[in-house]
Amino acid sequence: MDKQQIIDQTATYIKEKLAGEGSGHDWWHVYRVWKNAIHIGKHEQVDLFVVELAALLHDIADWKFHDGNEEIGPQLSRTWLESLGVDEQVISHVSQIIQDISFKGAGVATRMKTTEGMVVQDADRLDALGAIGIARTFAYGGSKGREMYNPDLKPEQHDSFEQYKNSKGTSINHFYEKLLLLKERMNTGTAKAIAGKRHEVMEQFLQQFLLEWEGKD
Ligand code: NI
Repeated sequence: MDKQQIIDQTATYIKEKLAGEGSGHDWWHVYRVWKNAIHIGKHEQVDLFVVELAALLHDIADWKFHDGNEEIGPQLSRTWLESLGVDEQVISHVSQIIQDISFKGAGVATRMKTTEGMVVQDADRLDALGAIGIARTFAYGGSKGREMYNPDLKPEQHDSFEQYKNSKGTSINHFYEKLLLLKERMNTGTAKAIAGKRHEVMEQFLQQFLLEWEGKD
């Protein structure tokens, strides 16, 4: 099987697996991350095959939906890629990226080990920002029964992955706890430039939201 066929089959597999998911981690999230990753990857010295596969498989079993189990994603990806006869070197690189990629709280550093990993991480983080990021934040919050906003609850800094996983904050607080911090954490110059624009969209949104909340605009 050639590389393009492997990518196409992986896209079809993920599309079937994640179709219709309503919390913002559906196929179309993966699709956007995949497109972002190709865009960023073209400006970097990377193996685009690894980048594309890791982007397509990165949410195959997100820990948020498996009671905090972080091992399922890398395992499922490995099984899938082995079934297509992909080289071991590529498989272990892709699994490593998937394992390292989830955001683990504001005070917890996640450093990707390879440029391919950095590109995919940037691509995933970009999809948490801007207009799409706003939509996904409320979709995810709603799926978890969270309040949109509650002025009595202040944003928290999560210093450990455990704290972040167990946090019950509002969707608005999620902007202060995670999304507004991401601009500074992009690995590549290409992603930084895109993130700057999306950051402004969120700042404007929050300003307007808080004005409307108090009936001021
Ligand atoms: Ni993702």
